[in-house]
Amino acid sequence: MTSPTPTKRLFIKTYGCQMNVYDSERMADVLAPLGYAMTDVPDGADLVVLNTCHIREKATEKTYSELGRIRELKLAKAAEGGVMTVAVAGCVAQAEGEEIMRRQPAVDFVVGPQSYHRLPELIARTHRALGQRLAADFAAEEKFDALPAMRAATGVTAFLTVQEGCDKFCTFCVVPYTRGAEYSRPVEAIVVEAERLAAQGVREVTLLGQNVNAYAGEGGLAGLARKLAKIPGLDRIRYTTSHPRDMDEALIAAHGELEALMPFLHLPVQSGSDRVLRAMNRGHDAAAYLKLIERIRAARPDMAVSGDFIVGFPGETEREFEQTLELVRQVRYAQAFSFKYSPRPGTPAAALGAQVPEAVKEDRLARLNDLLNEHQSNFNAAQTGKVLPVLFERIGRRPGQVVGRSPYLQPVHIEGPESLIGQIAPVRITQATRGSLTGDAAQPALLTA
Ligand code: 5AD
Ligand code: SF4
Repeated sequence: MTSPTPTKRLFIKTYGCQMNVYDSERMADVLAPLGYAMTDVPDGADLVVLNTCHIREKATEKTYSELGRIRELKLAKAAEGGVMTVAVAGCVAQAEGEEIMRRQPAVDFVVGPQSYHRLPELIARTHRALGQRLAADFAAEEKFDALPAMRAATGVTAFLTVQEGCDKFCTFCVVPYTRGAEYSRPVEAIVVEAERLAAQGVREVTLLGQNVNAYAGEGGLAGLARKLAKIPGLDRIRYTTSHPRDMDEALIAAHGELEALMPFLHLPVQSGSDRVLRAMNRGHDAAAYLKLIERIRAARPDMAVSGDFIVGFPGETEREFEQTLELVRQVRYAQAFSFKYSPRPGTPAAALGAQVPEAVKEDRLARLNDLLNEHQSNFNAAQTGKVLPVLFERIGRRPGQVVGRSPYLQPVHIEGPESLIGQIAPVRITQATRGSLTGDAAQPALLTA
């Protein structure tokens, strides 16, 4: 993988022991993929890091007097329209903490020795506070960065972006850097757009956002869903992608109450190991995730759960991987996406040691996929004999065939007239494969879902 050409200057001043010299080198390594190259002088630098030492007497006072000089350079750079970010690292940072920023406001952030891998996050947060983004520093990778637009709009279904950006900073992920801070569109704008879509014949909307359930417009995502559910003609509402930390009571309750809110939830967990989840900075452990699934299923017993998984995160052991399999067995996903960990330059995890060998990742991915596929097949097979309401979206590949979606997002094929497209009609499910269902048109009175 190639790094972007260095466009920014990094000055690190190292005090004290050999450990600090080593740490400064590591900081430079972590920052190189973000386009920072070392310079010997602080003048005009884009990022200045004082890697401090507490051992000698007056170390703290020395740090403050050095910061006084850096402040002058920062002001000089600002006068030319530039930005100098100033950070204090090392033992003084550890000991004094945020007090340093109170005493010397030129300091943008303080970072202790345990957190150097989070430098990209701290820099991104500082830049955000100034209204800047780091986007240009990251080569976009559609696979992980793009919104999960799983299917194209057909005229019957449509996507509606309600939220963008991410404040979560999972250590493997580029999105907080490429897409910037969480932003929510106002409720009114979304309602107007949804009304327009419904007037054009759209019967299902999928609300999109990198962290859609962090939607911060008035009433949150639950409030928005309640408003949209009132729009005549708009019979189905879905949303993706959600973060476990933002799954609040109101949204869970809405799933129990709103008929239009479809019983399908994409709720990535990434790993079943608490150690790995911590290293990923996910902000929840496996037990909290399982508890959440339990509460969601209490509100909506037939909820189909979907997930994302990463195998081979740095340092992942066989035992930790097995904890992921264990979690999968407990949740029984209706469908899922799984990925081999791939280091994204500039993200904290890419700088971690103990990267897992490719062959081990391959093996774990295959084992995880076997299990997920088995569950997906079982989930689909369990629909046979049921009568499900299907929203028909398009004609099928075979003549006389029409294709729609079940409430659980499964594709459903039947022999039927093209006039069914745009209709929600009951279908008796007769066959299931891992990828789709087949059935026959049924009497409306027979609906079982
Ligand atoms: N390596 C592997 N998978 C990743 N994802 C995001 N970043 C990475 C990465 N560096 C996966 C996560 C996320 C999904 C959209 O992509 O599982 O939920
Ligand atoms: Fe990336 Fe999602 Fe984590 Fe945000 S919550 S950092 S988008 S994986």
